[in-house]
Amino acid sequence: METIRIGLIGLGTIGTGVARTLMENRGLLEDRLGFSLSLKGIADIDITRDRGIAIPQGLLTTDAMRLVEDPDIDIIIELVGGIEPAKTFILKALERGKHVVTANKALLATHGKEIFEAAQTFGRDLYYEAAVGGGIPIIKTLREALVANNYAFIYGILNGTCNYILTEMGEKGSSFDEALSSAQKLGYAESDPTLDIEGIDAAHKLALVTSLAYGVPPDMNGVYVEGITRLDKMDVTFARDLGYKVKLLALAIDRGDSVEARVHPTLVPTNYLLSKVDGVFNAFYVRGDIVDSTLFYGRGAGMMPTASAVVSDLADIGRNILSGTAGRIPHLGYRKGSSSPKRYLPIDDVVTNYYLRINALDRPGVLAKVAGILGERGISIVSVIQKGTDSVDFVPVVMLTHEAREAGVKSAVEAISSLSEVNGKPVVIRVEDKKLKNSPS
Ligand code: HSE
Repeated sequence: METIRIGLIGLGTIGTGVARTLMENRGLLEDRLGFSLSLKGIADIDITRDRGIAIPQGLLTTDAMRLVEDPDIDIIIELVGGIEPAKTFILKALERGKHVVTANKALLATHGKEIFEAAQTFGRDLYYEAAVGGGIPIIKTLREALVANNYAFIYGILNGTCNYILTEMGEKGSSFDEALSSAQKLGYAESDPTLDIEGIDAAHKLALVTSLAYGVPPDMNGVYVEGITRLDKMDVTFARDLGYKVKLLALAIDRGDSVEARVHPTLVPTNYLLSKVDGVFNAFYVRGDIVDSTLFYGRGAGMMPTASAVVSDLADIGRNILSGTAGRIPHLGYRKGSSSPKRYLPIDDVVTNYYLRINALDRPGVLAKVAGILGERGISIVSVIQKGTDSVDFVPVVMLTHEAREAGVKSAVEAISSLSEVNGKPVVIRVEDKKLKNSPS
């Protein structure tokens, strides 16, 4: 039986899962593939820690470049994460004629152009199923299974940490800080959770999804990002009363000659399937013009789900190597680039629905002033609820708007903040509810 030889760089959680999968499911993989996926070397800065798996003698090294330079290795798996030295490992491996598998969304979202071009120059495959959605095969799905489709939109819950926190806030009434600390205790959030809770991790993934779907280069400058750190549990409760859950939604939407790519807390109707995606789970709701609506659900992180994605890339590359067809599938889904290129729509030009919470004095005429400010900017109100009746103090007034342009909402929020009857800046959360859209989708 032929053997595909693999060098694994990074024996952390996912790396250990990959090594385990290759050992535990060796027979199954050989039956299915007709060749063997064999670990030829494993590099990590710590080669003494017990990972709970029996790694054959002589495989471990602290010298990652030794694997990159090894002429006997066919595929390098990069699971170091971050920008450097991961980028150097990948570029050098491609230069040395190796194919690459990586889970590194941050690197591909920020330096993807250079890395994908290098893969093309050297005629090597660079697969990254594990970079987005963990065990959910969304990259392959968008690039291959749904190749016949124009994507109307892709809505994703792409960050398990945030989804866990938001679920806790919704179900238990926890504050953001309480929910984050619970996520950290359970190992769902890192000790420095910034990348997750500020929405950056989800934005990295969305940059890749947007690229695959619409043929635009991955570009973090085109992706609007707002995390969940400023979310008040009061708004999660009010949203629930209005029939919504708050989700950190990642949205890629076709707008003709432009594409919207944005990550932010979003009110999603409780009866939507995406609203039922709770805890650490991820999901993608994809609408194609040919296939119609599809939903993909699963674990977006974790040792074995992510390893499942890495090993599927190894299998694909192994098949390509043995059939002499490396580069058969364009890495970002488009062989020639899109013949109708799109630009990223600036957030100010986005048109959607909004939830506004204003802290206002319970006095005659206050609502009229607020409505006036909105009306002057063409923002129409769908509903208003005053949450409380204390005429002495400020009370929360919650509004839902018809579709409005973001720039107008921003300007209205500034003007409302400066009213003497209003305390602080209004809270703004975007809403994704087809019942509120002017033209139903
Ligand atoms: N930290 C991510 C999450 C998983 O919480 O979903 C890795 O991308």
